[in-house]
Amino acid sequence: MSTAPIDATTTTAWADLTAHHSDLTSDLRGWFAADPQRAERFTHRAGDLYVDLSKNLITEETVALLTRLADEVGLAGRLDAMFTGEHINVTEDRAVLHTALRRPLPEDGDAHLVVDDQDVDEDVHEVRAALADFADKVRSGEWTGVTGKRVETVVNIGIGGSDLGPVMAYEALEPYVQDGLEVRFVSNIDPTDVAQKTADLDPETTLFIVASKTFGTLETLTNARLAREWLWTSLAGAGALADTDDARRDAVAKHFVAVSTALDKVADFGIDPANAFGFWDWVGGRYSVDSAIGLSLAIAIGPDGFEEFLGGFHTMDEHFRTAPISENVPALMGLLNIWNVNFLGAETHAVLPYAQQLNRFPAYLQQLTMESNGKSVRWDGSPVTSQTGEVFWGEPGTNGQHAFYQLIHQGTRLIPADFIAFAQPAYPLADGDTDVHGLFLANFFAQTKALAFGKTADEVRAEGTDESIVPARVFSGNRPTTSILGPALTPAVLGQLVALYEHITFVQGVVWGIDSFDQWGVELGKKLALEVAPAVAGDAEALAAQDSSTKALIETYQALRG
Ligand code: F6P
Repeated sequence: MSTAPIDATTTTAWADLTAHHSDLTSDLRGWFAADPQRAERFTHRAGDLYVDLSKNLITEETVALLTRLADEVGLAGRLDAMFTGEHINVTEDRAVLHTALRRPLPEDGDAHLVVDDQDVDEDVHEVRAALADFADKVRSGEWTGVTGKRVETVVNIGIGGSDLGPVMAYEALEPYVQDGLEVRFVSNIDPTDVAQKTADLDPETTLFIVASKTFGTLETLTNARLAREWLWTSLAGAGALADTDDARRDAVAKHFVAVSTALDKVADFGIDPANAFGFWDWVGGRYSVDSAIGLSLAIAIGPDGFEEFLGGFHTMDEHFRTAPISENVPALMGLLNIWNVNFLGAETHAVLPYAQQLNRFPAYLQQLTMESNGKSVRWDGSPVTSQTGEVFWGEPGTNGQHAFYQLIHQGTRLIPADFIAFAQPAYPLADGDTDVHGLFLANFFAQTKALAFGKTADEVRAEGTDESIVPARVFSGNRPTTSILGPALTPAVLGQLVALYEHITFVQGVVWGIDSFDQWGVELGKKLALEVAPAVAGDAEALAAQDSSTKALIETYQALRG
C-alpha cells in the first residue's frame, strides 16, 4: 500500500485533543469521587482479560476524541488491510500476517485465506501439524540422539524474535513443561552464553534448535557452529562418535533441527531439510513466537498446550477485528498510549507483571514495541509529525517496588504503567495463615491506588509528621496506570496477552503513520560490526580506516587482551 498515511496531527480530532488537553486538569481523586461508576465505565473485557483503564488520566471526552482520531486516521481500514494480507509492510513489500498463524483451518467448503497466490491456511496448518508431530516424538522418546538416548534438554539458538518470544513463553508456562524436559536459550554472541548453557549438558541427550528467520544472523550462526563443535567434541570425548564425516553428519542429523524461512541455507549448514520447519516472510521476527519459531515451546508444553496458546492469540485477534472501538481493548490501549505520549508527554512506559513467570515479558515487549515503532519516517518516507515509540521497560513486581518505583511515585516524569496479574497462583503457598499470592496481589492493588490518589500534605501532617519533612512525604497522585487481570497464566491466557500487545503496537503505528513491521534501524550496526571485525582481529589496514575513537578503543582492547 503506497498511499500516503493520513497525518494524525492535521485531523480535527488531534486539534480537539490538543484543546481538550489544555482544558483538562488531572484529578483522579475528584473524578472517582464524582463518579461512582468510573471504574465500571472504563473497564473492559477482552477474552479472559479484565482490563481497567479507569486510573488513567482520561475522561469520557478523552476516549470519545481518541476514538474519533482512530476513525480519522483510518484504523479500521488498516486493520482490514493487515488481516487480509495487503502489503502494509511497505519498505519490504510484504504482507503482515502473523494473525494467520493462529487462524483455525476453515471448515470444508469455507474460503481459505489466499494471499499472493499462497493458500496461507493450508501452509500454516501443514507446518502446525509437522511441529506437533515432531514435538510428540521428542516428548515420547521416539526421537533419540545418535546413541539412542531420549532428549532431556532442548537448546534453542536464536536472537531477537527467534529468542525472546520462545524464552518469555517458556518461562511463563513453566508449570506446563513436561517432567524430565528442560529448554535452554542461547542468544548472545558473547561466547559465555553458549559456554555456560552447555557446560553441564550431556551431548547424548541434547537437541539443538537453530531458530533464525533469515538463517543469516551472525550471532545465531556463530552460536550454532560453536554448539555443533561442542556436540562433536563432547560426543567424541564420551566415545560416542567415530572420527568420520559420516558420523559427524549423523550426529548433526539427530541433534540439530532448524526453524527458518530460508530452508536452502539450513541445508548449507548441514541440517537435514527433513528436520527443518518453515515459516514465511510475512511473519515479522518479533511476531513469530506463534510460528514454527515456537518449536521449543511446543516440545516443552506439548502440541495441545501449543494449540491452546495459539487459540488464545486467535481469541484476541477476533476481539480486535470485531469489537467496536469503544469496547476494543487493544484499540483503546493503543490510543491511550497515543494520549500519554503525544499529549501528556510520556517518554517511557513501564510494564509491571505481578507474576514472577512473566520475568522476560518486559524484554519481549521491548523488541515488539520498540523495534516496531521506533521510527522517524512514515510509511511513505516522509518525516513523522509527532513523537513516536516510547521506551518500554519493567521488572516483575514486587522487585521493582524496591528499586525504581520511587521515581514513578515521586519523580518529575510521567510514567504510565501497566500492572498485570493472574488470580490463580502457579504455586499456592501459605505463610502460616497468610495466602502469599493474596499478599502479593495486595501490593499490585495498593501500588495502583497510591499512584492514582497519592497522599496530600494534610494527610501527611495528620500522621504527626514533622513539618520539615512533609514535602518529601507528599505523593502527588495522578500517575496513570492500567490494570490487567487474568484468571490464571495458562497457555491460552498468555496467547491473549501477547496478541493484546501486538495489536496495541499496531494501533500506535497506524496513528503515527509508520511501518511497524520493518526494522532498518538494526542494519547499520550489523554491517559495521562485520567491517570492524577484521580490525579487531589484527588487520592493520582495517584498523587504520577507523575513526580515532574506534581505533583507540580497538587498540586498548588489543593491549588489555594481550
Ligand atoms: O534485530 C533485528 C532482527 O532482524 C529481528 O527483527 C529478528 O527478530 C532478529 O534480528 C533475528 O533475526 P533472525 O530470526 O533472522 O535470525
